[in-house]
Amino acid sequence: MKIGGKTKIVGIFGYPLAHSLSPHLHNAAFVELGLDFVYLPFWVESKNLDLAARAIKSLNMVGVNVTIPHKKEIIPYLDEATPEARMMGAVNTVSNRKGRLIGHNTDGQGFIDSLKEEGKFDPRGKRVMLLGAGGAARAISSVLIREGIASLIIVNRTQRRGEELAHHLKRIFKNMCPIDLVEFSKRNFYGGVREINLFVNATSVGMHAEDDLLINLDLFPPGTFVYDVVYNRRTELLEAAEERDLPCLGGLGMLIHQAVFSFEIWTHRKAPLQKMREAAEKELGMGKRGT
Ligand SMILES: NC(=O)c1ccc[n+]([C@@H]2O[C@H](COP(=O)([O-])OP(=O)(O)OC[C@H]3O[C@@H](n4cnc5c(N)ncnc54)[C@H](OP(=O)(O)O)[C@@H]3O)[C@@H](O)[C@H]2O)c1
Repeated sequence: MKIGGKTKIVGIFGYPLAHSLSPHLHNAAFVELGLDFVYLPFWVESKNLDLAARAIKSLNMVGVNVTIPHKKEIIPYLDEATPEARMMGAVNTVSNRKGRLIGHNTDGQGFIDSLKEEGKFDPRGKRVMLLGAGGAARAISSVLIREGIASLIIVNRTQRRGEELAHHLKRIFKNMCPIDLVEFSKRNFYGGVREINLFVNATSVGMHAEDDLLINLDLFPPGTFVYDVVYNRRTELLEAAEERDLPCLGGLGMLIHQAVFSFEIWTHRKAPLQKMREAAEKELGMGKRGT
């Protein structure tokens, strides 16, 4: 990769960022297509988010990804947001269109594409349990309802955050889908768990080997699809699903698909998906197809 006076800059705002795969995915894609772009990590703390957002304009950057903890907090600093990002109340991609900052969200579509293409699972008409109420959970729950799921159970460690997400979804989608909020302490006793078709872990639990398994998979009906958004390692949740012969998928596919959409927003070019997957797998030290 050669950096010169015309190189266009994109990057990622968040913290911590040390383990982010996004620079590897995007820079591999720029090299593959011979584009004069570079993707850089920017360690941005919450107190500096307004300055960082203004820098996208003042430094004439093409755009940025936004990650923990800024996906919701960035919204007031943008000029507009796409209907998708408004629906989710979260932004993971910003594009700079002639000095106007547009907020997008590619996480949700990344999840759906991964679920359908790799998981061969169509969520339409299915009963879903979602663990988490952060940025990933917001994106995933919104697209699942839009895809026509039959019902949604939300469980989150902090009840207030779970309530906020349930309230947001009910406001946006009205009566499109029944939504139940179940207290975290009751998650393994709630009868509805015995009727789900899809379980999604949208928390960060599983990123570390010592993390607890938060759900009793013996409650799930046979054939329940288990999706874990965590992508940095093979989680205990996925291992527990495999032990019970449940179909399952880790979050690497979602990461790659959301990156593909961001890349295409910035460059207006078709992203080299396979190259991005190889870059991610190499960085994670996986052989081919590690999730
Ligand atoms: N595969 C992908 O493309 C992709 C995309 C986005 C995110 N992710 C992954 O998704 C995960 C969540 O990201 P995010 O952006 O949603 O983060 P976030 O906004 O900070 O939300 C974190 C969520 O995890 C829950 N949580 C954290 N520690 C927990 C614990 N010990 N026990 C129970 N719940 C716990 C939080 O519950 P509280 O509300 O109680 O704190 C919250 O629901 C991360 O692992 C991230 O890497 C993957």
